[in-house]
This record gives sequence, structure tokens and C-alpha cells, in this order.
Amino acid sequence: MRRWRTLLAMLAAVVTAATMSPAPASAADPVVPYVVGGSRAALGEFPFMVRLSMGCGGALYSPTLVLTAAHCVSRTGANTSITATFGAIDLQSSTRVTRKSNYVYRAPGYNGNGDDWAFIRLASPVSGANIATLPIVTSTAYDSGTFTIAGWGANREGGAQQRYLLKATVPFVSDSTCNSSSMYGGQVIAAEEICAGLTSGGVDTCQGDSGGPMFRQGASGWVQVGIVSWGDGCARPNKPGVYTQVSYFSSAIRSAATSLGG
Ligand code: ARG
Repeated sequence: MRRWRTLLAMLAAVVTAATMSPAPASAADPVVPYVVGGSRAALGEFPFMVRLSMGCGGALYSPTLVLTAAHCVSRTGANTSITATFGAIDLQSSTRVTRKSNYVYRAPGYNGNGDDWAFIRLASPVSGANIATLPIVTSTAYDSGTFTIAGWGANREGGAQQRYLLKATVPFVSDSTCNSSSMYGGQVIAAEEICAGLTSGGVDTCQGDSGGPMFRQGASGWVQVGIVSWGDGCARPNKPGVYTQVSYFSSAIRSAATSLGG
């Protein structure tokens, strides 16, 4: 439920630090649930995916900025405590690239309800093999269809954080359906949030995926449509994932990026 989001993010951070349990070893495992209900991503498949040390995901917006969720950070201001990991699907890979943060920008007005986006600024620019930026959408043109989700969060409700990046696809769910009495009964902020998932459940983001991108193909490659924000449990029937609707915030996100120096 909404009010548990911050608590869950904090729990995810603790769990991440304590237990980095590997996903099942064989790439041949046919239908083991991942993200929830997904499969393992390939190296370089999603070169914009970022793992943040507080137990959240993110997307590389520019060489020095990672777009994540407001509920993953505590406040706007100098912050040198976050480590971001890039260029790897295996968080323990010897070829992973890491950067420290030097500043956090949390969406102005964030109070735990909506406005769930933030930037982490890196102490130095990141680049390299299997590292690339993800452009955000700037209109509602791509706010429908089939979305890809990915992250190192739990592969089932209450499950452990993952060592290997997991991915899945989920269909768009309209605001009216998502806010219907059988789903979220009006809890979704229609203008600011976008839902995705199966009515039957089974595929979803989960704790520790927060802040990561939801994306789809645009005119020339992947574009970011959402930011993992919240849901009632994970992958439950009639409880789609709820994502920050990037198109609604795109102007604010762009001007924040400019003010942060890129
Ligand atoms: N708030 C969660 C986190 O901190 C993400 C929850 C996403 N839940 C969902 N059912 N899609 O990681």
C-alpha cells in the first residue's frame, strides 16, 4: 500500500546490503520467476540500467545523472554516500563500473504521494562498454502498448534482492481500469502515474526495483515511459505496478537536469 513505500524501500536497502543471493545458476532454467515472472537480461541489452546502493534501480539519463524515484532518496542536497553500478548484469562482475554520488535532487514538493522522481548526480561522468543513456519521453505518444521492466529487486513478493538483472514485459493498464474498485479504487494519481501489469498477476516489478525505468521502443530505440514507484504487494492479480508517468514530468525533469549541469 502507498504508505508503506518508504518503509519498503528502506527494508530493501537493508536486505540488499545483507543478502545478495544469486539467481539460479543455469541460463536454461525455463520458467523460474524473475523481476517477478521474467527472465535474465543479457549483458548490454539494457545498457542504461543502474543499481543504486540504497537498494533501488535507476536509469542513466546523462553521463553524470541517474534518474530514479523520489522515495529512494531522503532529500535534496549534497550526498556522497550513494554508489551506482553500471555496465553489468552481474552486480559482482569484475568488469562493472561504479561511481559515487555527489548530489541528490528530489522532486520539489515530494511528500510520499506522487512526484516520485529524483536525480542522483555522479561525482564524475560514466562511460564504457555496455553503458548508454536512456532518453525520456517528452509527450504521451508512448504511454501505451507493451513495456519492458528490469531490475535487481525481489523475484517474488517478500523475496531476496537479485545478483543478476531480471527483465519482463507488461501491458499498459488505463487509469480508469487501474483506479476501478477491483484494482486501486482511486489511489492512483491519474495524471502523474501510469499502471502496467496483467489482470491475472504473475509479472511485475517488486521491492528493490523502485527507481528503475519502465521503457518501450520509440521512434529510434528505447524510451523511458515510467519509473518504478509502488504497488500492492508484487504481481498479485488485479494489482498492476504503478509507475511515475515520465511524460507528465518531462519538462520538470529536463530543467532539473540542466540546473544540475547536464
Ligand atoms: N516501492 C517498491 C520499492 O521500493 C517498488 C514496488 C513496486 N511494486 C510493484 N508491485 N510493482 O522497490
